Amino acid sequence: MGKKRTERIVFENVQILDAGAKGVSVAKAPDGKVIFIPNVVPGDVADIQTMKKRKAFYEGKAIKIHEFSEHRTEPVCEHFGVCGGCKWQNMKYSQQLHYKHNEVYNNLKRIGKIEMPEFEPILGSEKQFFYRNKMEFGFSSTRWMTPEEVQSGAELDNKNAVGFHIPRMWDKILDISKCHLQEDPSNDIRNEIRRFANENNLSFFNPREVTGLLRTLMIRTASTGELMILIQFYDNNKKEIELIMNFLAERFPNVTSLQYVINRKLNDTIYDQDIITFKGRNYILEEMEGLHFSINAKSFYQTNSEQAYQLYAITRDFAGLTGEELVYDLYTGTGTIAQFVSKKAKKVIGVEAVPEAIADAKENATRNNITNCEFFVGDMKNVFNDDFINTHGHPDVVITDPPRDGMHKDVVAQLLKIGAEKIVYVSCNSATQARDLALLDEMYKVTRVRPVDMFPQTHHVENVVLLEKR
Ligand SMILES: C[S@@+](CC[C@H](N)C(=O)[O-])C[C@H]1O[C@@H](n2cnc3c(N)ncnc32)[C@H](O)[C@@H]1O
Repeated sequence: MGKKRTERIVFENVQILDAGAKGVSVAKAPDGKVIFIPNVVPGDVADIQTMKKRKAFYEGKAIKIHEFSEHRTEPVCEHFGVCGGCKWQNMKYSQQLHYKHNEVYNNLKRIGKIEMPEFEPILGSEKQFFYRNKMEFGFSSTRWMTPEEVQSGAELDNKNAVGFHIPRMWDKILDISKCHLQEDPSNDIRNEIRRFANENNLSFFNPREVTGLLRTLMIRTASTGELMILIQFYDNNKKEIELIMNFLAERFPNVTSLQYVINRKLNDTIYDQDIITFKGRNYILEEMEGLHFSINAKSFYQTNSEQAYQLYAITRDFAGLTGEELVYDLYTGTGTIAQFVSKKAKKVIGVEAVPEAIADAKENATRNNITNCEFFVGDMKNVFNDDFINTHGHPDVVITDPPRDGMHKDVVAQLLKIGAEKIVYVSCNSATQARDLALLDEMYKVTRVRPVDMFPQTHHVENVVLLEKR
């Protein structure tokens, strides 16, 4: 029996109406169903071919554009459209901000169904490119080939690539020659490693066969000018590892932290691996308002340092501290927000699940001569209980910055039980934030909202909300 194929339909002259979640645009088919389409901009008029049909919507692609939207701009990156990284690079930045604002507004209204104040204007990022302080690239011996390359049938001797995974293809890497997300020497490092490895016949990882030497590359930069390079190897070949590490040490003499890891597991996460420092220290320093934060290979640090500063400044402003308050910083990570607000608080208590992050938080506080912050490890829903409050005191202000899933319902229930005067809720996912705000609505009124753009050229948006007790 043949495979059942999805029927493909072409809708002609469709007006693109909106930019939706996940960075895809939205239109309406003549039959009234919604169509999700990548790589087009609201205002375009295009012929759309459906790729998948679902009960309530289609997924499609533009096969011909008749009218280009006035909100379009020329993408700066040669890899745009193939690389899944910067889906909105073809949209003017002012429009990106407009759609990010709308996303937050719609989520708070439709999911939260709460009374809202007028939003404060979304804070755009001064840097619209080269704003990331951390990039991770993958090596592959079977690079992604364009449809033209495949059709030409030409045999290539070298299919080595270092770059990004093609969306939804775990074994295909797009070879990147210039990425516009991280400042130099990021591109230089990646391109030099590729050149050196090819010249010296060092093998690139083959994800299907699970063979090869070079597996992943992480580069971290900081506003202090410090630089970290970490290479993950699969083969434990001492001679070849030393060859490439010595090359990097010589070629980039200013590197603050040059590290590697040998990972023989099937997955390439380094979080459960021992990391070896080849040259320099095992961390770099970031600086914010005179505070220094050490970042090691496994640390979480906000990836747009300059916007992180703005985000924290808004958070501190919303908290309206006078110096007398006991503040809880939930999901504190390496304690950055806790330390950032500590000068204006009597005491700050930070809670976080990752023990290494809490170790960093304590070390950073010592480095910064901060004595009014205390940090505790544990899963929030277990740690943040009555005993904890009785031991550490009743907070006047709670700052919470949970992961994308939002807060566990027990954590929300505990917040309602404590009834702090103010809660500042920082979120990278306004849908789960809206769900939590609805739960808090019985006791708290949302009095300020300000979205912040940390990731230009993508659909991601951060949102800060102030809740005050009714
Ligand atoms: C969005 S980050 C916030 C980090 C920090 N506020 C910052 O700006 O750097 C969320 C943090 O929540 C932590 N986390 C995730 N699930 C948790 C849980 N169940 N209990 C406690 N912390 C958790 C993560 O490890 C991460 O550090």
